[in-house]
Amino acid sequence: MPLKTWNTKADFDAAYSDAPFEQDGRPGGTVPIRMGYSRAAWFDYYGKLHPRTFVEVMGWTAGAIGWSPDDRVVVVGCGFGWSVEGFEALGLTQVVGCDTSAWVHTVKGDDEAVDVGAALDRAGVPVRDARRVQAHARAVASSGVGPRSRPSRGVVNDDPFTDDQARRRILASLTGDAGIRPDWVITESVLESLRDAEAVAFADTLRAWGTNLVHCVWPKDDRFPQDAGYNWHTLAEWRALLGGDVFVSMAVGRSRPRETLT
Ligand SMILES: C[S@@+](CC[C@H](N)C(=O)[O-])C[C@H]1O[C@@H](n2cnc3c(N)ncnc32)[C@H](O)[C@@H]1O
Repeated sequence: MPLKTWNTKADFDAAYSDAPFEQDGRPGGTVPIRMGYSRAAWFDYYGKLHPRTFVEVMGWTAGAIGWSPDDRVVVVGCGFGWSVEGFEALGLTQVVGCDTSAWVHTVKGDDEAVDVGAALDRAGVPVRDARRVQAHARAVASSGVGPRSRPSRGVVNDDPFTDDQARRRILASLTGDAGIRPDWVITESVLESLRDAEAVAFADTLRAWGTNLVHCVWPKDDRFPQDAGYNWHTLAEWRALLGGDVFVSMAVGRSRPRETLT
């Protein structure tokens, strides 16, 4: 049984509640605008960093295994598929995301504009206030208003850990050919919700499926308070547990120092 499940909006908003929208400052004395798990906030801040970091990792491994923009990439636990969009924007052409969250699949086609307005209301930003106009413009500019999930290939509701049929469905949505092997399998902040034994079994399955297995994780960091309900490990600890896989820190660019990629 995983430590955390992700089937409700509350599950996501609790985990992403600390992401303020105006990273570069807000008027003194005002309440921060907190968007929760929204594409507005993700693209405004994190979406710009995460795909770039991943491409750096691909560059790092390219010497050993080679990498091309046409490589087949599966992002496991992609949420609404925002990183998939980011990777496509950077030139990758064969990327698909899968996620098993009931909430993701219920609301993935819904417009996020209501949530943006609600976040502004919660922060007490009055209608027609200049800050509201700016924040809304910023949300639009960051691709934040509209359906939550706009990947060109959609988000597949399949768990590659389940069985070969599930893995074949994911691949079929990518290439029409269910029999091929992904070049890269990327888990995106999935491991932290699993116990060690679950993480080992999960990674073993994915390692047998893809040519390269990459785990994007939020590492354990004693300098910051971290919710005790997760399975936190440093990158070194994850590497020791799941030796051979590539790890990427998702903490890049935040208020935390950049981690070494490996
Ligand atoms: C912490 S959220 C991360 C969401 C997104 N990747 C991000 O970084 O913002 C973990 C996600 O992994 C998904 N997940 C967990 N186990 C999964 C599995 N075996 N197959 C597909 N998705 C899974 C959950 O539904 C949830 O959306």
